[in-house]
Amino acid sequence: MILISLVLVAYAVLYAIAYALPQQRFLATSQVLLEENLNDKTFEPLETWLDKEQHVALYKLLANVAPGGRNVRNAAAGSVIASPSKEHPNYYYQWVRDAAITAATIVDVYANNSTTMQAGKLSHFLDTYSSLSYRIQHTDNPSGTFHDLSGLGEPKFHADGSAYTESWGRPQRDGPALRALTLMQYLQAYNASHPGLWAPNGDNWFRPLYNAAMPPDSVIKADLEYISHYWSRSGFDVWEEVDGLHFFTLMVTRRALRKGARIAAAFGDNGAARWYDFQAGEVDLFLRKFWDAEKKHLVATLESSRSGLDCSLLLGGLHGTDGDAEDHDTTFAPFSDEILVSLLALSFDQEDRFPINSVRFSLNRNGRNEEPRQLRGVGIGRYPEDVYNGYGNSPNGGNPWFLCTSASAQVLYLTASHLTMARNLTLSELNAPFYTSLLPTVSFSAGMTFSADDDIFQQVVGRLKDVADEYLAVVKRHADVEGSLSEQFDRVTGYERGAFDLTWSYGAFLQAFWARQRLLELNEGLE
Ligand code: NOJ
Ligand code: NOJ
Repeated sequence: MILISLVLVAYAVLYAIAYALPQQRFLATSQVLLEENLNDKTFEPLETWLDKEQHVALYKLLANVAPGGRNVRNAAAGSVIASPSKEHPNYYYQWVRDAAITAATIVDVYANNSTTMQAGKLSHFLDTYSSLSYRIQHTDNPSGTFHDLSGLGEPKFHADGSAYTESWGRPQRDGPALRALTLMQYLQAYNASHPGLWAPNGDNWFRPLYNAAMPPDSVIKADLEYISHYWSRSGFDVWEEVDGLHFFTLMVTRRALRKGARIAAAFGDNGAARWYDFQAGEVDLFLRKFWDAEKKHLVATLESSRSGLDCSLLLGGLHGTDGDAEDHDTTFAPFSDEILVSLLALSFDQEDRFPINSVRFSLNRNGRNEEPRQLRGVGIGRYPEDVYNGYGNSPNGGNPWFLCTSASAQVLYLTASHLTMARNLTLSELNAPFYTSLLPTVSFSAGMTFSADDDIFQQVVGRLKDVADEYLAVVKRHADVEGSLSEQFDRVTGYERGAFDLTWSYGAFLQAFWARQRLLELNEGLE
């Protein structure tokens, strides 16, 4: 009930902002006003738009996937292209990372509905994705070969599956970890809907995916061998720019190794299970180095001259932990204090950095310097120092990205669900600044605890959802009228820019939307 009234209040605020704009002409840039006025969806309630957009996003995501996708007629079966854009910029390639993240979203759709007609198509795609992954793993490329597995670090391939041989930031070691995670999730989902298949010496359906043989002759095993042997070496980051050791890469590595250990054990590959678990433990310890006690937030890359604030921290939390109770690595989970305070610092930075963010909120707030400063849902880019504008480098700096804005929303929805289930909130030195910015009317301090029945607890959960909704309202505002999502939206005009129909933008939106739905269901269940 409280949640519903908070939602109503949130809409009232959104409407107020929308209607207030024309009278505040002097404050806003003319482009922003133009956009507000031309765009009918500005006046559509968020809920209505989200319900439409979930279908649009899935439809447009599948359009970039072969076989069957209308944008990828000539791509090899099993491929995912990053965007249909073939020039300015050319994103018509398969990045191992983007493909794995997209295929993971398809696994989620399949797992929730594994008996329908659509499920047959999805599982056909996932089977071809797995065969193409095998082929790509065995394709010699500038990162190396299959023989010593070094070639698995190659970040991108042509749409026909052949190697990309021009210069690039390589290797990138997050790809094999993400691909293994996706295929392990598929294996589990398939097994759940075909229980008869599972017998130690029975059907061979699983064999191409996982098999204990060494040297590896199955996709997942090859990826697990690769990451378990190469994780401590440097490589390029998720944004393909910096060579080093990265939070995102190691978070997805830890999770893949931990899950890999369980899968290996299920296949009776016990030596491998011990090895993967041992390496996961080492990665887990190593990950602690990414907490910067002076800065009081996580950093994206060790020994980097950048601030370290980065949307890849949020992505690391999201892709690097499972909701799953059997997962014992919850360090740096999306709801962890370290991720939440990092999100807070990143969000404040981006709010001040991008004109579209400050224009919007300077209207309805009592000055930006109020203390304590309140957390708002704004457009979030990759990192403060970014200069990539979607086509090349710009002296004006980068822009907000759809996928990072959705990821911010997802972190907060998951945190709200986590607290709802834990039924307890304990304040610490570390998390007090986050909760204070969430609810500045309360004087939070370390040591306070609130239980689910406390009014303040319910306000915290309500605010988490409302701020998450604000982030998604930003996605809504900058999407085009058809619901298309590109890579970025312009920091000044708010218009979409960079590769159009970016596959990952749709996947990130869907993940945030589903996290929101689970939160709403959880709250309904409790009423
Ligand atoms: C530079 C960007 O910063 C990087 O992230 C991107 O992958 C390449 N250009 C290619 O678009
Ligand atoms: C640039 C991004 O920085 C990178 O993460 C992504 O893989 C490629 N574009 C393709 O979408």
